[in-house]
This record gives sequence, C-alpha cells and structure tokens, in this order.
Amino acid sequence: MGKVILTGDRPTGKLHLGHYIGSLRRRVELQEAGGYDRMFVFMADVQALTDNADNPQKIRENITNVALDYLSAGLSPDKCTLFIQSQIPELSELTTYLMNLISVARVQRNPTVKTEIGMRGFGGNIPLGFFCYPVSQAADITLFKATTVPAGEDQEPMLEVTRELVRRFNQTYAEVLVEPEIMLPENQTARRLPGTDGKEKMSKSLGNCIYLCDPADVVWQKVKSMYTDPAHLNVSDPGHVEGNAVFTYLDAFSTQEDFANHWPEYQNLDELKEHYRRGGLGDMKCKKFLNTIINNMLEPIRQRRAELEKDIPEIYNILRKGSEKAREVGAQTMDEVRHAMLIDYFH
Ligand code: TRP
Repeated sequence: MGKVILTGDRPTGKLHLGHYIGSLRRRVELQEAGGYDRMFVFMADVQALTDNADNPQKIRENITNVALDYLSAGLSPDKCTLFIQSQIPELSELTTYLMNLISVARVQRNPTVKTEIGMRGFGGNIPLGFFCYPVSQAADITLFKATTVPAGEDQEPMLEVTRELVRRFNQTYAEVLVEPEIMLPENQTARRLPGTDGKEKMSKSLGNCIYLCDPADVVWQKVKSMYTDPAHLNVSDPGHVEGNAVFTYLDAFSTQEDFANHWPEYQNLDELKEHYRRGGLGDMKCKKFLNTIINNMLEPIRQRRAELEKDIPEIYNILRKGSEKAREVGAQTMDEVRHAMLIDYFH
C-alpha cells in the first residue's frame, strides 16, 4: 500500500502567513519531494457551510481566494489533485454510512469540536451538520484511502475519530478503509505563528494577519506597527526577544543567507538577538530587516498570483478537472464500500 497524502482547508478567508508557515509551504515541499502515490489538496466548502449556512456567498468567494493562494504558493495541478469537497457526492454517501458506526457521546467528547461550539456561541442550537463534521472529515480522509494527513495539532482529535471509524468499518464489514496518520508541522513557531499584535494566534477575526496577497506597502505598514517589547522604550535599553513578535517572525522566516545578503553586521539570528538583549539595537532596524525577508518571500507568490488572476476561468478549469479525478478515485472506494456493506444489489 503506497503513500497517499491528503489535506484541506475551509474556504472561509484568504490565507495568511500563519497558514503559509504552518501548512502551505510544507505541502509544496511534499509535492516537490515526490515519494507518494497520490496527493490531494481540497477546499472543504461542505465543512465551511456547517457554520455558514446563511452565508454561501462568503464561501463561494473564498473558493477563488484560496485556489489563488494554493496555486500562487506553488501547488501544481500536475503533481497534486486540487478539488472542491461539495463536488464529490460520494463524500456525503460515505459520511452517512460512517455515522452508523459512532455514537453521539463519542462526537461530543471531541475537544476541538467542544472549543469551536463554545467560540461560536451556539448555545443549545448547535447545527446538526456542524456537530457531525468530524464524521464528514473522516469520510474526506478515508474515501481517498489517505495514509498521511498534514495538519495542525487541532486536527488530531479528527484523526483519532477517523482511525476509530476505519477500525470499526473494517471489523464490521471488510478490510476496505485505511488508517491515516497525522503529519504535524516540524516546529513550535510553524505550529502557531502569533499575530502582528503579538497575540497568540494569527487570525482573521483578530485582525492581526499578513495575507499572502498583501502588496509590499501593506506588508510594510503591518510590520512597522508590529508588537515588540513594551519595555524597550529607548534604543539603548536592553530588550526581550521572548514574546516579541518581530523575533518570533525572524525565528520563523529568516535564514543565514538573509543575514549575509541584507544585514552582514550579524552572522545569524543568535548574534542579532544577543545585541537586542544587551541594548543599543532599535526596533525599527529589526522591522526593516523582517520586512525585507517577508517581502522577498512573498514577491514570487505575488507575481504568480498576478498572472493567475488574469484568467479566473482557467482556475475553475483546474478545479473542475481535479474534482473529476477525485471523483473517479472516490467512486472506486465506494464500490468497495457498498460491496462490503452488502448494498451492491445490482452487481
Ligand atoms: N478541518 C480542517 C480545517 O478546519 C479542514 C479539513 C476538512 C481537513 N477535511 C479535512 C483537513 C481532511 C485535513 C483532512 O482546517
């Protein structure tokens, strides 16, 4: 059994640097490294609708935004199947059958779902579709027999549910589905990039994001006003790098080469941090350096995006072809599922 990589995002907003460092960059690396049989990246619009039922326009718009983000960041339709969840009806079918193999109490124990229910303030009115989304997510993964799911820590409970459902299905009917593993981001900064305001997470609702599609001057405005060390008032004061968003971003994005190319007074980030701690190094210099690094990283992405934006119908062509391909794979699994469940009456 070969390696099948699958992952996706809810199309509820444009992607930002947190997404890039936490997942998108890794996906492009995985895509380029090869060594897998298939790779799928999809937009989970069905899942996004579970708590946006009254706002389909928002999901629709963000399909375009996220597709542009994917392609401009380097995902390639030649190497990886890009598709839209709602266009694969087999996913709903598999979800229905998986729902028989899990209890309400088991879904209720899912910590990510619990947190989300709290955050959304559903109170006693949790939409049933939202409540069931972990089962739908298990279908997303198993319909394609994914072995490897690159995702954040918050997705671990979904993978646990998925593995349980696979075991349950295979024991009850026949060995058809495959148990997946999560592939977590390599390091702590990649797991959770703070916002430009220093708050624990970059997030659209907190308004502290740098978006992949931000133009260079917007990035500079955002970097210039970034949270640093509130006790570092004068250049000569000693400063803290812990909890200082500029240094967290430098941890995430800077390389030795960036120092050689743009700030040769320092060999590396450790030397820069050392100077900042000692005092005598101003925030503005560090912000200029960070701005250069971020804009150099985003520039090729922006250029590709400008090209892609000229032909939006072609983007939809890519998504349509990807969805057709995904459907073929899904239909094959559903044949096996129906056979195992003895509902293949007309064969
Ligand atoms: N729940 C994921 C998120 O909120 C999106 C998602 C849906 C997903 N189905 C998936 C991720 C399957 C990985 C695998 O970002």
